[in-house]
Amino acid sequence: MAARAVSLDDVRRAQRTLAGVAQRTALEPSRHLSRLVGAPVRLKCENLQRTGSFKVRGAYVRIAGLSAGERAAGVVAASAGNHGQGVALAASLLDVRATVFMPEGAQLPKLAATRDYGARVRVCGQDLAEALAAAREYARATGAVFIHPFDHPDVIAGQGTVGLEILEQCPRAGTVVVGVGGGGLVAGIAVAVKALSPDARIVGVQAAGAAAYPPSLAAGHPVTLEAPVTMADGIRVGRPGDLPFRIVKELVDEVRTVSEDELASALLLCLERAKLVVEPAGASPVAALLSDPAAFRASEGGAGEGAEEEGRPVVAVLSGGNVDALVLQRVLRHGMAAAGRYLSLRLLLTDRPGALAALLEVLSAADANVVDVSHVRTDPRLGIAEAEVEVHLETTGPGHCAEVRAALRAAGYPVMS
Ligand SMILES: Cc1ncc(COP(=O)(O)O)c(C=O)c1O
Repeated sequence: MAARAVSLDDVRRAQRTLAGVAQRTALEPSRHLSRLVGAPVRLKCENLQRTGSFKVRGAYVRIAGLSAGERAAGVVAASAGNHGQGVALAASLLDVRATVFMPEGAQLPKLAATRDYGARVRVCGQDLAEALAAAREYARATGAVFIHPFDHPDVIAGQGTVGLEILEQCPRAGTVVVGVGGGGLVAGIAVAVKALSPDARIVGVQAAGAAAYPPSLAAGHPVTLEAPVTMADGIRVGRPGDLPFRIVKELVDEVRTVSEDELASALLLCLERAKLVVEPAGASPVAALLSDPAAFRASEGGAGEGAEEEGRPVVAVLSGGNVDALVLQRVLRHGMAAAGRYLSLRLLLTDRPGALAALLEVLSAADANVVDVSHVRTDPRLGIAEAEVEVHLETTGPGHCAEVRAALRAAGYPVMS
């Protein structure tokens, strides 16, 4: 077998390079997830890393490895957010000029932060692929060094330092669960963890709408997805990186997929239960635990009283926390709806004074909290004595939703949807 392009020694060297630069982020226990899974669950908080994601690790190691001549030429990257911030901070710490191409529609706080870390930002292209093409063209025209977000041994070694830290903080870790875009993070973690703890499992997680790894692994080579779609912009990548793919194929035990609902529910859980702000890509490992907890249960452990502290720990890497407040609001709403905590209903009322108040009375008696009401009387589809009401309610979960519907039916309200 050919020597692997990234070794444990490379990751150890990267860790020395990152001393005093990357933070050793906390590994937090999660009682809620431990109970759900039936094994101890730990959260690796790279959402609290400098720049808000693990990306600064790989970017710094890559730029620190450049020759003096290359550094003088500056660096260029393309990114929808986290990689750009990582490159911007790494370059400024190393006194290297950085230009970051971001696609139109990139989240504004990510754009502003990249600029604040000292990079020159160029907004260019409809999507990341177009921004990447522009960045490569800029590199060709100016001699700046292109810093790939995942397909380079130094970047992978830098990301692998997350794996070293996990084993330092939790030597018995039995499973490490990692979000996967191009695959640099999971590849680096796999190199470190499998070298030091060969029987530990590495599980990659992709968003179902942007899952290029499963078909690529089945085909034996990277396959390109036409139009990857997911709210998790950090892992919205249409093709595995060549080098990460080779490592993933050899070392990663499985790659799972999660739905958008599961991503939203995971983000909500991180916020409510762990008090951690995590972006959708960063919450993907938690989404995998939510979607199939039994798959992560240690064989010697099991659900039930006390089981959550038995067995080898499962570590979920919360890879990033950079999320625009508006996106957060949307995702949380979606997460609450997915968790049955948000109920939207359309009803027909008789259009007479007091009808709306009577409806609200029924909802109040059912303990449903009204978030929003719209009351339409002038739609031509409605009869002359009819009004349509749309109500958005907060509930405590699916059981409560059923109770609210039952209370409305019992009070004689026809629920349209
Ligand atoms: C928050 C977050 N998680 C996971 C990833 C996936 O990393 P990779 O492309 O190395 O698989 C990214 C990549 O940008 C990210 O920003």
